[in-house]
Amino acid sequence: SVFLSGCGGGGDSAEKKLKIGFAQVGAESVWRTANTDSMQREAAKRGVDFKFSSGEGKQENQIRAIRSFVAQGVDLIILSPIVETGWDPVLKEAKRAGIPVLLMDREIETSDESLYAAFIGSDFVEEGRLAARWMVENVKGDNVKIVELEGTPGSAPAIDRQTGFREIVDKHSNFKIIESQSANFRRSDGKDLMESLLKLHSEIDVVYAHNDDMALGAIQAIEAAGLKPGKDIVIISIDAIKEAFEAVVAGKINCIVECTPLFGPLAFDMAEKILNGEPYERRVVMKDKVFDQTNAAAAIDSRMY
Ligand code: AHR
Repeated sequence: SVFLSGCGGGGDSAEKKLKIGFAQVGAESVWRTANTDSMQREAAKRGVDFKFSSGEGKQENQIRAIRSFVAQGVDLIILSPIVETGWDPVLKEAKRAGIPVLLMDREIETSDESLYAAFIGSDFVEEGRLAARWMVENVKGDNVKIVELEGTPGSAPAIDRQTGFREIVDKHSNFKIIESQSANFRRSDGKDLMESLLKLHSEIDVVYAHNDDMALGAIQAIEAAGLKPGKDIVIISIDAIKEAFEAVVAGKINCIVECTPLFGPLAFDMAEKILNGEPYERRVVMKDKVFDQTNAAAAIDSRMY
């Protein structure tokens, strides 16, 4: 008989596969699917036994997924939490089972920081500030009327992007947020919300959308109303997906703030360090760039999502 090494049937000599569970938010935006893709690709590349669960926008689904990962005895859990609060009980269950949790993309509010091992993601407050700074520097007028399309209620990016944006707007009395409503980070909701806001307000100068999908939906509504997005109404959004770059180049979006979804390599590096007992940074924050008509065209070809 022959013994083949490296073919997956190596018995005791075969390295144990890492078993990692990922509780994802859902598939609400292009950003989100790019994030899922980045994680799945990297897991496949590293030969990880990867258990993927989509929360479909509901926290209870994510809680159920975490419980099932614990029951399956995974080595580590990656969580991208839909909302900020309400995680302590289930994270305590993971902790009791000795399974470390890595927060990816969104942070949580907790009374016990030891319930998760580390966080990787963007500074959403800073993204809101970057969007507002671009606006106050580039939009002129005595009475600039802004509508804000918010992300999922209770989610870290919706809360923080509002906080950062308002921090700057509050210092400029000529800018006023006249509406602020959620469109759940979804394109179709962005379109519907913008449609009704256009009926409600005869004058809207700026749309600040917490993500590109909602901005792209709003653009459809603005065009259907016979107005020119990017000219009659200034459009500012966050994520910097490829389609938004195209819209900037076409003059329909004025400013996009980057937020990378490409966490795959970094997330699995961190997971391995945590599991191997190697030193790692507990909070890794991405550096986000701002794009507008001055620099989007030059960058578009190198964009990965
Ligand atoms: O948490 C990141 C946000 O979630 C992205 O900005 C948005 O597009 C996604 O749905």
